[in-house]
Amino acid sequence: MTHSFNAVRVAHEAIAHVLGPSMVALDATAGNGYDTVFLAKRCRRVYAFDIQASALKKVQARLKKEALNNVMLIHDNHARVDKHLVEPFHVAMFNLGYLPNSDKSVKTEPHSTVRALKIVCDNVLEGGVITVICYRGHAGGNEETEAVQTFINTLDSNVFLIRKYGACAHKNTPLTIVIHKTLNGGLYDGS
Ligand SMILES: C[S@@+](CC[C@H](N)C(=O)[O-])C[C@H]1O[C@@H](n2cnc3c(N)ncnc32)[C@H](O)[C@@H]1O
Repeated sequence: MTHSFNAVRVAHEAIAHVLGPSMVALDATAGNGYDTVFLAKRCRRVYAFDIQASALKKVQARLKKEALNNVMLIHDNHARVDKHLVEPFHVAMFNLGYLPNSDKSVKTEPHSTVRALKIVCDNVLEGGVITVICYRGHAGGNEETEAVQTFINTLDSNVFLIRKYGACAHKNTPLTIVIHKTLNGGLYDGS
């Protein structure tokens, strides 16, 4: 069965709505660099993390091809994101799971994902957006999705507005979670 829902496109649309040329973005899982390039084309600076040096090499090549030089590549676990943050940021993307066509055992894990998400939610500027794409089809994917949802339920509803998108009836399909940090109780529209 095919699903018209595209988890990455939903995340990109939510981010494009708020991201502007003077802003700063985090890519918590750089992978093949598609999200990093998407962000780098729309803002002043991107901080892109990955635990795999081989992934970051691919990202570097993709950035060179696109003539983008506003990305700081960080070879570290995103659970240590606070050690690398040198300026305020407006958006963050988490595209969880493993790198396609790569070693599936190197994947995001519930504990470090939730730790990174907490740091990012605490530090993202008001009016900012965090997207989390959770994949449920691989080993450990459901547990990680559950951990993310449990964490999200702890967020202060006076500060954070949460939207979830997905083919909810289909257990193995991805879920895109969009977290808005409200601006004086409202939403920022990029204007
Ligand atoms: C689904 S891929 C990301 C896809 C990517 N955003 C893109 O546009 O191609 C997930 C990536 O997360 C990385 N990763 C896994 N655990 C991580 C962690 N704790 N910190 C940072 N990166 C991690 C993996 O190495 C993998 O490259």
